[in-house]
Amino acid sequence: MSVKITWLGHSCFAVEADGLRLLIDPYLNDNPAAPIKADKAEADFILLTHGHFDHVADAPAIAKRTGATVLANYEVGEWLKREGVAADKVVQINPGGGVQQPFGRAKFTIAHHSSSTPDGAYGGVPGGFLLELAGKRLYFAGDTALFLDMKLIGLGGIDLAVLPIGDQFTMGPEDAIEAVKFLNPKKTTPCHYNTWPPIAQDAAAWAEDVHRQTAAEAIVVEPGGSFVV
Ligand code: NI
Ligand code: MN
Repeated sequence: MSVKITWLGHSCFAVEADGLRLLIDPYLNDNPAAPIKADKAEADFILLTHGHFDHVADAPAIAKRTGATVLANYEVGEWLKREGVAADKVVQINPGGGVQQPFGRAKFTIAHHSSSTPDGAYGGVPGGFLLELAGKRLYFAGDTALFLDMKLIGLGGIDLAVLPIGDQFTMGPEDAIEAVKFLNPKKTTPCHYNTWPPIAQDAAAWAEDVHRQTAAEAIVVEPGGSFVV
């Protein structure tokens, strides 16, 4: 079975498999690089890595319109409820924990970053997601620095690693190459770059470095572009 991945700009991805649609970190209406607005986003599940606005801004509206179930850390889950998302549509997790859902399994992995919600409240600890769905293992690192424990995350084999390369707020391109070496994924794609000038990066050059230095296939698409894993 294959999984279709669509980059919606910044750290927002649509994942489609087995007729179910997952949306990671929706930030569309205020993202100058987003190919669609939030009212066009469809989702059965929404996954949030941490509370920063550039990852959660459109999540409450999309969740309320679509009835999607939202997976987030405990504190971001509380924020979703304050924003009017039904409590029975919020699944709260914390690092190291996983949940079985209709699409498969989602495990919340560690990330080195910060987290606060748009209303200024404490946003809990940031994380990433290791997803097992449709026979594939997908790792969305979230906003993070490079960390050695990525070797542990890669132990079971990873079909796709989604890594930030923007620098300043997350790993930059060089550390993201080291992350590919730690994770050893079959494929990797970059995110969290070119949204604003401070995180402008040359993704094609990064992909060339991935191919020179690792065994992974680096896939670079424009916002709105899709590929299959
Ligand atoms: Ni962040
Ligand atoms: Mn961010």
